Amino acid sequence: MQQDTRAFILGLPKAELHLHLEGTLEPELMFELAARNDLTLPYDSVEHARAAYEFSDLQSFLDLYYAGCSVLVTEQDFYDLTWEYLTRAASENIRHVEPCFDPQTHTERDVPFGTVIAGILRALEDGQQRYGITYRLIMSFLRDMSPESAARTLERARRYGHRITGVGLDSAELGHPPDDFAEVFAAARAAGYRVVAHAGEEGPPAYITGALDILGAERIDHGVRCLEDQMLTARLAMDRVPLTVCPLSNVRLKVVPDMASHPLRAMMDAGLLVTINSDDPAYFGGYLTENYVAAADALGLSHSELVTLAAASFQASFLDEGTRQDRIAEVEAYGSARGVR
Ligand code: ADE
Ligand code: ZN
Repeated sequence: MQQDTRAFILGLPKAELHLHLEGTLEPELMFELAARNDLTLPYDSVEHARAAYEFSDLQSFLDLYYAGCSVLVTEQDFYDLTWEYLTRAASENIRHVEPCFDPQTHTERDVPFGTVIAGILRALEDGQQRYGITYRLIMSFLRDMSPESAARTLERARRYGHRITGVGLDSAELGHPPDDFAEVFAAARAAGYRVVAHAGEEGPPAYITGALDILGAERIDHGVRCLEDQMLTARLAMDRVPLTVCPLSNVRLKVVPDMASHPLRAMMDAGLLVTINSDDPAYFGGYLTENYVAAADALGLSHSELVTLAAASFQASFLDEGTRQDRIAEVEAYGSARGVR
């Protein structure tokens, strides 16, 4: 990796569209919150926790991810979690974020929905004030829990109105197709929520089709398995459906064998609207810049392609059209100033 490519990526104005706030919980903060809440962790030390982050698939990661969430109890805990991420994002010139969170992971432990949302929103507002980072918040339903539980979560969100922009679907994908969630997503769409869904991470291309046709997803999280279905790929390209790809996540969860085999370039070559994101950076060894760097390095992405990817991150966002175009112009100006044509 040329040093100038890392610096180029770091300064590039970027949006992050696929980021689980709970997946930004660094072991240091996990220990701090455990002490604050008088809880015991299954790790002796920060180093021991990091050493345990070796995953064989999505489920092996989710087991540790949900265990880690147990230290998040008070509004201040959710504030600190979100604020640490935003401080990091500001240092990488991330200008807009659309993070998601998993309310059921917390309400199941009797942490009130209101506690979770208050801490997250206060930090996002502070981040907009202090760092100028705009945001849209996404609430994800857990696909390995029941549709009734998702419906109760949607009901709990009602009083927060448009402070939550979108709904999503995450957690263990295999064996949990989108079909069961048709009703709750229809209700969410009727209430004015934007819709995203994880699909085609470990699950087959049919889950992507289901996310589009059954849930009404406007944007697909991951979607890397779409290339296995030519008709679906053509449809995604034609309809400009954004796919929020997470390169380091895919390698760490063994969705792909290594970065050199990652389908990102093939997806770009197929005319898909792809963006680079970090998913759960505290667990996968890198935040947004590191995801761009790892992909650029392994796949030989040019500065011009990196500009295209950063512009796509704003294009695929839920920002209003005017702001979206302003941000894309900033990305292009950044490239032009550095000789990118
Ligand atoms: N929850 C947190 N990270 C996830 C991922 N990569 N896939 C599905 N659910 C998740
Ligand atoms: Zn994800």
